[in-house]
Amino acid sequence: GHAATAPKRERNFVKVMQEQGRRVIFFYGSQTGTAEDYASRLAKECQQKYGVSCMTADIELYDLQYLDTVPEDCLVFFIMATYGEGEPTDNAVDFWEMLTEEEAQFSESEELNNLRYVIFGLGNKTYEHYNEVARVLDKKLTKLGAKRVGERGEGDDDASLEEDFLAWQDNMWPVFCDALGVDESSASSGPRQATFSVEELEGEDMDQVYLGEIGEKPKDGARIVYDAKRPYNAPITSRDLFHNTDRHCLHIEVDVSDSNLSYQTGDHIAIWPTNNDDEVARLASILGLTDKLDVPVMVKAIDSTASKKHPFPVPATYRSIFRHYLDICAPTSRQTLMSLVEYAPTEETKEALRQLSKDKDAYRLKVGEAVRNLGEVLELVAGAEARPGFFNTVPFDLIVESISRLQPRYYSISSSAKESPKTVAVTAVTLTYNPDPTPERTVYGVNTNYLWQIHAAANKVEDGQTYPKYDLAGPRNTLQGSKVPVHIRRSQFKLPRNPTIPVIMVGPGTGVAPFRGFVRERALQKAEGKPVGPTLLFFGCRNSEQDFLYSEEWPELFETLGEESRIITAFSRETDKKVYVQHRLQENGQEVWKLLQANGSIFVCGDAKNMARDVQQTFINFAIEFGGMTEDKAHDYVKNLRNSGRYQEDVWS
Ligand code: 2AM
Repeated sequence: GHAATAPKRERNFVKVMQEQGRRVIFFYGSQTGTAEDYASRLAKECQQKYGVSCMTADIELYDLQYLDTVPEDCLVFFIMATYGEGEPTDNAVDFWEMLTEEEAQFSESEELNNLRYVIFGLGNKTYEHYNEVARVLDKKLTKLGAKRVGERGEGDDDASLEEDFLAWQDNMWPVFCDALGVDESSASSGPRQATFSVEELEGEDMDQVYLGEIGEKPKDGARIVYDAKRPYNAPITSRDLFHNTDRHCLHIEVDVSDSNLSYQTGDHIAIWPTNNDDEVARLASILGLTDKLDVPVMVKAIDSTASKKHPFPVPATYRSIFRHYLDICAPTSRQTLMSLVEYAPTEETKEALRQLSKDKDAYRLKVGEAVRNLGEVLELVAGAEARPGFFNTVPFDLIVESISRLQPRYYSISSSAKESPKTVAVTAVTLTYNPDPTPERTVYGVNTNYLWQIHAAANKVEDGQTYPKYDLAGPRNTLQGSKVPVHIRRSQFKLPRNPTIPVIMVGPGTGVAPFRGFVRERALQKAEGKPVGPTLLFFGCRNSEQDFLYSEEWPELFETLGEESRIITAFSRETDKKVYVQHRLQENGQEVWKLLQANGSIFVCGDAKNMARDVQQTFINFAIEFGGMTEDKAHDYVKNLRNSGRYQEDVWS
């Protein structure tokens, strides 16, 4: 019933641009919001500094077939993230398919001779296909006759995304001005113009105020469909998988039985985190908002034609904005530091902020690598003067504009959908790190710490009692029962449909998560009397006594699967020499190679950087050693396995 009542959106972006008098459009292909943020930042600069009217656009909301009708004096930006194994982000899939078709067809022609475009890609070098989407898109657009303005920018999220983005702009803006006939020297760097208006409300009906809901409040009587835009607040239960001095791991079961949510084995579940009360209090205090935390505010885009009228659900209280909607625990960006300079309360703090934003090394040491969030940076900059309200000179709309939306965290589902379609299992290891030793600061992973709080409360864990180091000394969250907002994200990481096909799984640490689902699913099929092929699981952890995940479950499952199937373990800290999954794989090379000859499929899950690379190299070695291939041929062999879906990765960095 939703579609029928919603007003029809104009999908021809060229028409929208013309009606609104825009010369530049910033399309973004974004998964976690970074590309979207970048597009907004560029748009703001375009509009304010260069005086060129422009708009940002979620690439999913427009019909890109009209690319061939963009007037010659306009410019189209593509800010495109590459996701997973060289894939476009969810919102860019349609465009990607249209463009990479053999014979792309646009609204009036097959060519883009009038189009001028600028492109920046967001990628991650730890993955196989670095910035694949931006690279392929660039090539394709050029081939179709479009002209790129300036150099293609590429940012590496593993190292220096923000730096790459800033450095690329140094050269981009001059050519941008050239292309649009803007006089660069007349660019104004006057006072900042606000993007959002903020209005504190009085006597607001609190039922209408958003206190953490993601997505619209449900209307009375309407059937609710839960998805990424409106996550389901799901009850969870949890148990300990292991805990030792520096980390612990939870098995969490998410009950989705009261929702329409469904999943397939190998999918991801998104959990929407909540910022802890300490960080909310810290930021509120230095901004002078402590007494106002429960005041509802309306936040609106000032530009009435902005693609998003509100940055998050509103009206909302300051508290819920800090706790649920803004990523206040993330390290502060250099851009944010720069825009704060103007509002700093004293000359000293202005200078300190200017220094931190300009001096890359200082920024890296004190903010980036030190993972200092905005509240912490403001405290650092204020030094001895840090007291409540010291930075009350900073307008709240700047905070809204500068801090990204809090994004969901994705986990590989560790249950089998065939076995438990309405109970979704998650295997999560809690994260803490100590980014700088003096004075020692502990940074807590936002979501895992939040899940841990729920776990501790539900299981009545008392301070310091059960957990030697990871006690309850960390920041606390205000819990809303044992519930978390979730949605399901489909993945390509899937068992072969035919269960007789052999599978080889490699998943050390929490990388074993999806394989618990896979193994349970195949054991279930076997128990139902279906023929199931050989199933090998390579698992690695530190110690068989400490962190051997699901050790009590495997014997029965593999017993069911039969003698051709087994778990092969690598315990890295039981002997002097490190033993890793790739070493075990090598030891079992002949057998693994035979399974590959029998049309077997490989699945790798876990650390993208070292493990996944070493494992791939091991398979290349097999092709040389057992397949008699040259090194080049062996690389091609593995590449072909990937292309045909027989070598799949679910890896993270
Ligand atoms: P380590 O911490 O003793 O070095 C799960 O984290 C397991 O993966 C641990 O046993 C860890 O060993 C191991 N591991 C660390 N680096 C690895 C790599 N490059 N390849 C495979 N396993 C690795």
